Amino acid sequence: MNIPKSPNLSQVKHIIAVASGKGGVGKSTTAVNLALALGKLGSRAGLFDADIYGPSLPLMLGAAGSRPRVVNGKQMEPISAHGIRCNSVGFLVDDIQAMAWRGPMAVGAFNQILNDTSWGELDFLVIDMPPGTGDIQLSLAQAVPVSGAVIVTTPQDVALLDARRGIEMFRKVQVPILGVVENMSLHVCSNCGHIEHIFGEGGARRIANTYGVELLGALPLDSRIREQCDAGTPAVAADPQGQAAGIYLRIAERVREQLADAGESVGPSIEVSDD
Ligand SMILES: Nc1ncnc2c1ncn2[C@@H]1O[C@H](COP(=O)(O)OP(=O)(O)OP(=O)(O)O)[C@@H](O)[C@H]1O
Ligand SMILES: [Mg+2]
Repeated sequence: MNIPKSPNLSQVKHIIAVASGKGGVGKSTTAVNLALALGKLGSRAGLFDADIYGPSLPLMLGAAGSRPRVVNGKQMEPISAHGIRCNSVGFLVDDIQAMAWRGPMAVGAFNQILNDTSWGELDFLVIDMPPGTGDIQLSLAQAVPVSGAVIVTTPQDVALLDARRGIEMFRKVQVPILGVVENMSLHVCSNCGHIEHIFGEGGARRIANTYGVELLGALPLDSRIREQCDAGTPAVAADPQGQAAGIYLRIAERVREQLADAGESVGPSIEVSDD
């Protein structure tokens, strides 16, 4: 779909939506680590929290309480955290309980914050979408010139069903699907190493095959991933050599490759090792 870019997005090469149908499957965790991983690979990355109702990025980036500086009375400067530029309604509104937006207001708030942020030159702007595939999500997908969507799911049947809805929603508005990320894929017991497929097995692979899209990667259910986000330093920043960071970096690499294939340069390339 050909949506014109607003002036503040004119120097953003690619906008990537991270979405799922179901809530709580790990969109924000994936979005924040993907943005950090793109930065680690040498791209200029930004992150926008489109979750107007439940913004979680300020906390995950260790930037809660920060306020974007306003310049010229209207433009907001993005907050800088772990080397990436970000903005969220969570930086602007104190009491998130007060945000009982109705649908059109939510879309209006989203558009305004996104378009009034002076993002500058970015190779990638990752958008953490709110959960669901209703009117709000559809309006968001239609309002922004998205280069591609990353769909996050757990292997659980209900999540997979919602992930399919997510894929179909983006297809409807002609946004290419860059691939599927399976989150909480398996659990490795930290005492005995026993592997358990808590939410089932192989579901994301099946969906990827059904829709002819790529399975970009699978993250284990690992308490460190949660703890690092809760502490404001997500896995890619906290432990860049760790297993989870390695998976996020490979996902980022594939996303970069796919978008580079689609045309524009996406910044310098830094090799990711496979260990
Ligand atoms: N791979 C993982 N291992 C362990 N915990 C995880 C993992 N991924 C996410 N979590 C935790 O699960 C919870 C939900 O994750 P997250 O907030 O990223 O989901 P979400 O899809 O963005 O939720 P919402 O729909 O509410 O926006 C968080 O507490 C997060 O730290
Ligand atoms: Mg979220």
